[in-house]
Amino acid sequence: MAISSIKDLSEHEGKTATLQGWVYNQRTSKKLIFTILRDGTGLCQCVTSIDDVSGNIWKKISSLTQESSLKLTGKVVKDDRSVGGYELHVTDIEIVNIAHDYPITPKEHGVEFLMDNRHLWLRSQHQWAAMQVRNEIIYSIHQFFQERGFIQMDAPIFTGNAAEGTTTLFETNYFDQPAYLTQSGQLYAEAMAMAHGKVYTFGPTFRAEKSKTRRHLTEFWMIEPEMVFYDLDMDMKLAEEMIAYIVQRVLSNKRSQLDILERDIAKLENVKAPFPRISYNDAVDLLKSDKTKNMLDEMEVSRKEEEVNLKKELEELQKEYGQAKKGRKYQIDRRSKEIRGLLEKIEEDLRNIPTWRESAEKFKWGEDFGGSDETLLTMQFDQPIMVHRYPAEVKAFYMKKDPDDNRLALAVDVLAPEGYGEIIGGSQREDDLDVLLKAIEKHNLPEEAFKWYLDLRRYGSVPHSGFGLGLERTVAWICGLEHVRETIPFPRLLGRLYP
Ligand code: 4AD
Ligand code: MG
Repeated sequence: MAISSIKDLSEHEGKTATLQGWVYNQRTSKKLIFTILRDGTGLCQCVTSIDDVSGNIWKKISSLTQESSLKLTGKVVKDDRSVGGYELHVTDIEIVNIAHDYPITPKEHGVEFLMDNRHLWLRSQHQWAAMQVRNEIIYSIHQFFQERGFIQMDAPIFTGNAAEGTTTLFETNYFDQPAYLTQSGQLYAEAMAMAHGKVYTFGPTFRAEKSKTRRHLTEFWMIEPEMVFYDLDMDMKLAEEMIAYIVQRVLSNKRSQLDILERDIAKLENVKAPFPRISYNDAVDLLKSDKTKNMLDEMEVSRKEEEVNLKKELEELQKEYGQAKKGRKYQIDRRSKEIRGLLEKIEEDLRNIPTWRESAEKFKWGEDFGGSDETLLTMQFDQPIMVHRYPAEVKAFYMKKDPDDNRLALAVDVLAPEGYGEIIGGSQREDDLDVLLKAIEKHNLPEEAFKWYLDLRRYGSVPHSGFGLGLERTVAWICGLEHVRETIPFPRLLGRLYP
């Protein structure tokens, strides 16, 4: 019997099919066994009736435990109430392996426990859905660039020099010579662009950042397009087109995964180019404006109101619980859980508001935006925003200065909405040899290590631009995940190298 996959069950409606996979969950009553099977492509409810199978088969199915592997054969029946829309009415089973005491049970687990069991946690629905979206994002990025004539080229991972500041380098021993794990493929992408015109790298990058935030990984994947004869405006246009393209692709192809993740689809549907462009100068003004202050004041009042109302509702539900019937109890449990989640978010906001307020008040022109500032800025838009022309002081050495104001760099950061912060950093590159030499000196970088890079300005230098998209932050935003640790199969974080 040929094996079918759950995602293609509609093709087998009314026919007999065999599925292979694992027991996600199983519930038994006197006459029926409901096995939720997962096969990597989705979930399917498989129903065994005591009247339809032999005693031996009934016994085998009864013995199944969570995550046991098996093959089930039966008739495919359409059922809109069922996960995936189809059920299998089981007639036969082949057990492959019985799993004993699978550690991740349907009860709730702490996040450290789940992270220690990441190799198994990947099988859970939420994690599965997030990785499916990640794959769609990766695929759509390749298509976006390939359709536009970009060449994908790989930058090295061992490097002899810093690209993005010397404080976050991972040093390794390269045959008794220091080498660093790459922070960015950009400098090499620039060389490759001079050979091919439009290129993009797609590779792992490393930052020895001692930041324990929900946005930082020590190992993450970056996509870095680099284009010759592109200025900052063309760079920004490409960045917004790419992001809009990715979001549309996920919306069209991964809707059911977004549903599993309980992602607010309307927020993603808003994401259409062009995105608001706001200069650093205007962003600072906005941050320090009455508009921002009033927004925070109003937010504080409304959050407190919501908190009171939700707490009241929770109290009333709990009072009702004792006398409630079974069905109603189930409803109360669900709503109570939902309320607790909402209250947690409200409490987090209420804790954050004073921090945000203070950060905005203290902010001085010339500084880089911190996470709080980015959140405050993006809250005021329902699209990603492109903040451009930052003070050169806070940006990398390779960025070209704004000819209209020498204090500024022709840089852009794309900030995702809903507090997800910076997902893209990019710029027009300095193409003048002497200016670049001075910048290297000013940043205390070893000129020797950049000799090859400087050659790009010696031999046929041209204006060029590019940017870097952080894959994991993009996945976090599109999936609506709290933390980047759930956006990559095996996250590397400060204090985590296992599994
Ligand atoms: O802004 P960054 O540092 O820019 C560069 O590396 C440039 N060389 C890119 C270029 O112009 N080719 O990093 C780019 C993006 C950030 O916007 C963020 O999305 C992601 O990489 N990123 C991180 N993601 C997860 N964990 C970290 N520690 C990250 N650091 C940067
Ligand atoms: Mg950056």
